Amino acid sequence: MRILAIETSCDDTSAAVTENGNVLSNIISSQIIHNKYGGIVPELASRKHLEVISQIVQESLVESKSTMAEINAIAVTNSPGLAGSLLVGCNFAKGLSLKYDKPIIPINHIEGHIFSGNLQEQGLDFPLISLVVSGGHTAIFLVSSYTEYKLIGSTIDDAAGEAFDKIAKMLGLGYPGGPIIDKLAKDGDPKRFDFPRSMIHKSNFDFSFSGLKTSVRYFLQKNYPNGDFNDDLNDIAASVQEAITDVLVKKTIDATKSNKIKSIVIGGGVSANSRLREKFKIEANKINAKIILPDMEYCVDNAAMIAFVAEQKLINSDPANFFDLTFTADPNPIRK
Ligand code: KG4
Ligand code: ZN
Repeated sequence: MRILAIETSCDDTSAAVTENGNVLSNIISSQIIHNKYGGIVPELASRKHLEVISQIVQESLVESKSTMAEINAIAVTNSPGLAGSLLVGCNFAKGLSLKYDKPIIPINHIEGHIFSGNLQEQGLDFPLISLVVSGGHTAIFLVSSYTEYKLIGSTIDDAAGEAFDKIAKMLGLGYPGGPIIDKLAKDGDPKRFDFPRSMIHKSNFDFSFSGLKTSVRYFLQKNYPNGDFNDDLNDIAASVQEAITDVLVKKTIDATKSNKIKSIVIGGGVSANSRLREKFKIEANKINAKIILPDMEYCVDNAAMIAFVAEQKLINSDPANFFDLTFTADPNPIRK
């Protein structure tokens, strides 16, 4: 079964073609226009998706050596995400479905991240714990199969990626801040400054990152009133990264132990963080759990993960059930 997937939920335009779980192409076009604003500007994001989507879909077909006639179904992210961005992908996918008479499957973006580890390593061992950690989400799921999972913890305020990005902005670094902090931290001392690890000792699996952000703001105002923190920048970056990753790893390992699970999969943009990956390898090893760290292209927003989830939905159903074009882009299904 060959699936063409489209993902435009945030600021990456991506299209992929997969066949029976194998990725034949996974094209990702990132929008650099937001860098100068220090964060994503939703209106610009949707316009940029519109400009490139046709070409990105074309590239994914060419790279996978597929024609539309060889595609069995179209998958598209329809929630959650930025309303305008989701709409571009959904409407483009619906157009293709109508034109080529193909089934169309709307997919939840978070499900894509939960199962993205399978693109790396086919045949995940269930049950497993999945940490989804990105600019918009920080959540732990207990996953029993490709179609069953339960949310067991999530952030009560900012997402971890948001904390990286906002702190990077305070430090006068560019956007997205996570990769920049990751790079600076490599030459810094993670123990030099002690930033808060909110909720680390709570017995639940929830997170909170807004206190860290406030603490860094006060720390900078108090210690560098003239804003001349550049000599300490690497140590500040390393200490911030250490605080964020300590909490992410501790909560995930706690969830793994308390549910007697033997496999952990991480996903979402922050799972590209080098220190987080290093710590997960060490801590998972200590509890004898297997850790799956997806390749960078599967950590960030990508359409291959959307194709994979669609394939799971199609495996046990009749494709004729997937011709409903009335689904909508749903920016925030959880808050309803
Ligand atoms: O999954 P993603 O591409 O988009 C969302 O769904 O949000 O994640 C983007 C987030 C941004 O906050 C970015 O700063 C963060 O992932 N990120 C990182 C790293 N690479 C990306 N954070 C820390 N370290 C990294 N190496
Ligand atoms: Zn994402």
